[in-house]
Amino acid sequence: MHVIPVELGTRSYPIFLGCNIIDRLPKIYRSLKLPLRAVIVCDANVARLHLKVLVSTLRQCTVATTIITVPAGEKHKSLETANKIYSELIKHRHTRTDALIAFGSGVTGDLAGFVAATFRRGMPFIQIPTTLLAQVESAIGGKTGVNHPSSKNAVGAFHQPKLVFSDVQFLSTLSRREIICGLGEAIKYGYLDKKVFAFLDRHIEDILRKDLDILEEVVLRCNAMKATMISEDERETDTTGGRAVLNLGHTLGQALEVLSNFRLHHGEAVLIGLRWELLIAQRVGIVQEKDFARLWRLLSRIPFKPGLQRFSRAALLKHLYSDNTKARFVLPRSIGDVITTASIDKKVMSSTLKELLKH
Ligand SMILES: NC(=O)c1ccc[n+]([C@@H]2O[C@H](COP(=O)([O-])OP(=O)(O)OC[C@H]3O[C@@H](n4cnc5c(N)ncnc54)[C@H](O)[C@@H]3O)[C@@H](O)[C@H]2O)c1
Ligand SMILES: [Zn+2]
Repeated sequence: MHVIPVELGTRSYPIFLGCNIIDRLPKIYRSLKLPLRAVIVCDANVARLHLKVLVSTLRQCTVATTIITVPAGEKHKSLETANKIYSELIKHRHTRTDALIAFGSGVTGDLAGFVAATFRRGMPFIQIPTTLLAQVESAIGGKTGVNHPSSKNAVGAFHQPKLVFSDVQFLSTLSRREIICGLGEAIKYGYLDKKVFAFLDRHIEDILRKDLDILEEVVLRCNAMKATMISEDERETDTTGGRAVLNLGHTLGQALEVLSNFRLHHGEAVLIGLRWELLIAQRVGIVQEKDFARLWRLLSRIPFKPGLQRFSRAALLKHLYSDNTKARFVLPRSIGDVITTASIDKKVMSSTLKELLKH
């Protein structure tokens, strides 16, 4: 089992990561002196597949749990669902000293984290992620929130967890589609670090067939990088570096998610966004050709056909400018070196988008 510290002064917390480590949770829970009353928020799929083992594990350390099940999917990451969770918390007389545990995907983590940040002005929050995307990315860093009907992630708060507990054994039940979504966020780290790139390049097929040892290594490498970035720039105040580079692929990604009415999942949309930023970097001549080819080849090995022909270039460009007055990009210069910029000519955006939409 690995322990990765996220150093944030009084808000520091550990990430525990391993395979088949659920039995270790009671000891960790006790040693961190976490609350003996807790609420578990999970979606219906995770409840069906994995909830029993979590509840019985928590019972071993005498934690009394309330279960709140929400429907799965991005559409339910909303104030309406948050409101239903508040009602359940009030009904079961939960207080601000009880823990709220997000058990599941990135959607569950963002939604439950937002409730934990706001219910009775803030409850202790625990992340037990069960998707590759959530283990690699969303369970760490304290960004919580819900979507507004006209803007994704528009309502939210920073609320760091007290503990992140990632058991890659949970990933064994994921569909290939969800593994591909996790790869969207993981490949981002490959743009940022040569060794992560080389690891992903060597093991992409092992990841796709859910080799749990390899998945553990992917999560470990990405978490180690993210923990450092969060420690240095917790609230993304550094717009030219720091945590902001994790927005790689997200400028277009978020527009695609919204315009597809969430038929494209977050990680899939990020994969497409990564391709676009690579094309822009090539068009403006900042990425070295050999690195362009290596990054493009890695992205092409992921068995994912986005069917982009159905998107209108005009609608995408309009969305990019309306949601985000000056669209910001994170562009690769070489593998392991990126820049952030807001000054990409609209003609370059338009022509590279045309090329992208052919795929
Ligand atoms: N807070 C952050 O820093 C951050 C970072 C990246 C992404 N996000 C957010 O994360 C969300 C996407 O996350 P996602 O792809 O994990 O969620 P998702 O809900 O889109 O997809 C996960 C799907 O897999 C199912 N599932 C979960 N665990 C499973 C398991 N072990 N076995 C089988 N099925 C399982 C879920 O029920 C769901 O249907 C987006 O809303 C995105 O905005 C947040
Ligand atoms: Zn993301």
